Amino acid sequence: MADKPSFYITTPIYYVNAAPHLGTAYCTMLCDVQARYRRAAGYDVKFLTGMDEHGQKVEEAGASHGMKPQEWCDSQEPLFKDLWKQIEISNDDFIRTTQQRQYKAVQYLWERMKESGYLYKGSYDGWYCVPEETYFTENQVRKSDEANETVGQHLCPDCGRPLERVQEESYFFKLSAFQDKLLKFYDEHPDFVQPAFRMNEVRSFVEGGLQDLSVSRTSFDWGIPVPFDGKHVTYVWFDALLNYMTAVGYGDDSDEAKAELARRWPAQYHVVGKDIIRFHCVIWPAMLMAIGEALPSHVFAHGFLTVRNSETGKAEKMSKSRGNAIAPQDVIDLLGVEGYRYYFMTDVTHGEDSAISFERMEQVYNADLANSWGNLVSRALNMSAKYFDGKTPELDEGWEQRDNPLRAIALGIEGRYAKCMDSLDYVGAKDVVMELVHAANHYIEDSAPWAVAKDPARAGELRDIIVNLLESIRICAHLLAPIMPETSVEVLRRMSLEEEAATDDLAGVCEWGQLKGGVDVTKGEALFPRLASQKK
Ligand code: MSP
Repeated sequence: MADKPSFYITTPIYYVNAAPHLGTAYCTMLCDVQARYRRAAGYDVKFLTGMDEHGQKVEEAGASHGMKPQEWCDSQEPLFKDLWKQIEISNDDFIRTTQQRQYKAVQYLWERMKESGYLYKGSYDGWYCVPEETYFTENQVRKSDEANETVGQHLCPDCGRPLERVQEESYFFKLSAFQDKLLKFYDEHPDFVQPAFRMNEVRSFVEGGLQDLSVSRTSFDWGIPVPFDGKHVTYVWFDALLNYMTAVGYGDDSDEAKAELARRWPAQYHVVGKDIIRFHCVIWPAMLMAIGEALPSHVFAHGFLTVRNSETGKAEKMSKSRGNAIAPQDVIDLLGVEGYRYYFMTDVTHGEDSAISFERMEQVYNADLANSWGNLVSRALNMSAKYFDGKTPELDEGWEQRDNPLRAIALGIEGRYAKCMDSLDYVGAKDVVMELVHAANHYIEDSAPWAVAKDPARAGELRDIIVNLLESIRICAHLLAPIMPETSVEVLRRMSLEEEAATDDLAGVCEWGQLKGGVDVTKGEALFPRLASQKK
């Protein structure tokens, strides 16, 4: 392990105010695909996810169920953990902000902040959005909204919901002192925020001027106490952002934790939704600068999954509070877990908002999985078993050097795929793999092995056709594994190659020429049975 480079990737930690839905699962899946890809590419991966348990919103969610906050959070943990397991999330750690390690780390952070000179006591007087756990100044709020009959209320400029007036003693983090430092950092690290167009948003926000941030609360107590001032609890975001460092040893002075922190920090990727970019690209970097810690290499911001509102015809962010959230189980029932993963990871452009629909899911599933990938595997394995007595053909000397249309596409394929995967462009990566899948299906039609098989004089030709197909399938199975891990293991198993599945040398294993000849081939069930009807 030790000689492998570290790759540390994180999801946001999810508020436990409601069960996870397709939107939250989407973000977790984006990270999972990257984590699986990096493990295969030879990295020592740490993939972190977890739950954000403090703050008013969670406290209120508990209260509305008649539960104390901790009891409520404990009751929600299985909802997240079970769903992640069901959709094949391979996280290495699961952090909860009510854990002792977070408590220690946050208190340690307060001490470092105090020493830094960027902390002062004052009083906050302004607006607070509980659903977003965000402060807004008088100038930022939307005052009224005739259309929605909210005249006279103060509304959140982001989510449009009513704000609370907050007046309380508070500690402030001197965010305003970091404007120039942040702008300089962005100049020096133009790929800090991805995709690139999001960087402009962040930059212009910082150029517009930064206000000091209230980082403690005194009007309620569901949070981590400020160690030197018992009346205050930590503002939920000040607590939550630190989870990324807590999970790799921050605030723990054991030798083991220190070594872990040195090895893992800074993280390579924080993957977040576009609504929480400012926290991750402005506040979090400033906090790290204040306490003299390194900044993460990249923040990748994805868009929202949206659903069309049947009344207005407009696309709306999917969320529990809007009542338009689709439960992951509905998609799993339709597509199976791996079909679900394939659709969300390859048909949704990851930087943009994306309208999702069951019709489109069926189309993609049928076209790419049932008719293309599944069909290719089934036909090729079937023919191998039929013409070569249940086995892969015996390989002849130098087969891997011979030109053929599939080899031409497969040469260098891993490099083209990696270029996309490295920047979380899974749509691009899928296109690279599907080019080979489609070419292989055409190759079957063009070379007509069923006709060749009838002529004993063409036995060598038949062998080459099947070998080229199987070798293409072997490579595609590896490249599709981060998205559909179980299917790829199954495909390799059917070709007696299951030990290859756990590779940590993706580039090596994707080189043309490593098929095993004369080993058992299993035809097996259809990997992706065609969906016959438009169900929803
Ligand atoms: N607790 C904070 C994050 C703290 S990270 C230090 C939070 N939690 S959240 O549960 O509200 O949202 C978590 C993530 O889910 C966000 O990145 C958000 O963008 C994402 N999504 C919530 N609904 C979504 C969609 N409809 N589509 C895509 N992602 C969505 O914010």
